[in-house]
Amino acid sequence: DRGILRYRGYPIEQLAERSTFIETAHLLIHGELPTSTELDEWSEELVTQSTLPENIKHFIEGFQRDAHPMGMFLSAVGALSTFYPDSKNVLDGGSRQTQITRLIAKVPTIAAYAHRYRTDAPYVSPDPNLSFVGNFMNMLNGHPPGGSESQYRPHPELERALDILFILHADHEQNCSTSAMRGIGSSQADPFVSLAGAAAALYGPLHGGANEAVLRMLAEIGSVSNITGFIKRVKDGERRLMGFGHRVYKSYDPRAKVIKETAYRVFEVTGKNPLLDIALELERIALEDDYFVSRRLYPNVDFYSGLIYEAMGFDAGMFPVLFAIGRTAGWVAQWQEMLKDKEQRIARPRQLYVGENDREYIPMDQR
Ligand code: ACO
Repeated sequence: DRGILRYRGYPIEQLAERSTFIETAHLLIHGELPTSTELDEWSEELVTQSTLPENIKHFIEGFQRDAHPMGMFLSAVGALSTFYPDSKNVLDGGSRQTQITRLIAKVPTIAAYAHRYRTDAPYVSPDPNLSFVGNFMNMLNGHPPGGSESQYRPHPELERALDILFILHADHEQNCSTSAMRGIGSSQADPFVSLAGAAAALYGPLHGGANEAVLRMLAEIGSVSNITGFIKRVKDGERRLMGFGHRVYKSYDPRAKVIKETAYRVFEVTGKNPLLDIALELERIALEDDYFVSRRLYPNVDFYSGLIYEAMGFDAGMFPVLFAIGRTAGWVAQWQEMLKDKEQRIARPRQLYVGENDREYIPMDQR
């Protein structure tokens, strides 16, 4: 009710202002902010693990060029399981840490290559001299060495914005995808296939697919003058106002506030996203309308993130993939926490059956 989100006790606003994604990932996984030596070692391990097995690149190249990148992403993450049979040792703490590092390090490389493949661009290898996020941007937009193109340099303001978005998306207790990660992982399945399942849950438009759905909705509305008609359709139950509402946050989503501020900084570099005016007006009208006020529906983390991603040059299909890169830190931290819990058993909800009771099989000619 008070719109609070903290990771291991640290307010999300402070982490967004002062931390980096990889430092925050360390916090989620180990419970404490790293010392400078720990952070250096963690960065080094991530760089070492960021390359992809050659066959995973071929696997990605097996998709159609217009395949949805989230489908490519979750399939490739699941396929990694076959390259790392040691990942089956889920009860071994050392092995778990190896898989956690592999996952956090490799998901940006998979995401970047999925994007490149769809645009018919060649694979760009990770560059150990760049930051975690700078490297991701370089794999998306840079050029393979040896070509005639001038060297790509990530814009510092955009690099920081993406870092903040990854921090804000990193964890959020038992959301749909995280409980999928825990549910699958509770059978002691390896973390690659568990994470593929979590990413599948995130893909849905009511969860991480909402940022993509928001952009499509804003484009469909098309102009501020069409907003009133659209709101009426939402109130009549014909549509959902995507990017609004949350199962837990009933006053406001603290991440949405930070993302809105970040959007303005990004637009100073990229120019304003033309859909911003529609989003702002939609938010203003909805926040004054009794339908939304009485149901306690406010902008959530996905309402403004898509506008930033689009301004940075991503197409809408990549938005849930970007969400997944950040959320990977939370998924693996929660997976590890679950496995270390001595009381943990396989997830097995019971079902209250309300159908027909005991009856005799009816032969086909009597039905
Ligand atoms: N637009 C219009 N009406 C809505 C919306 C919305 N976005 N969200 C909820 N409502 C209405 C429901 O129709 C319902 O009305 P009723 O009481 O008259 O039947 C009431 O508000 C309560 O809604 P629920 O569906 O019970 O809310 P729930 O907690 O189950 O759903 C959810 C939460 C899925 C996020 C929902 O608000 C939604 O669909 N939002 C749009 C999709 C979205 O933005 N998802 C991203 C969430 S954040 C994340 O996953 C990272």
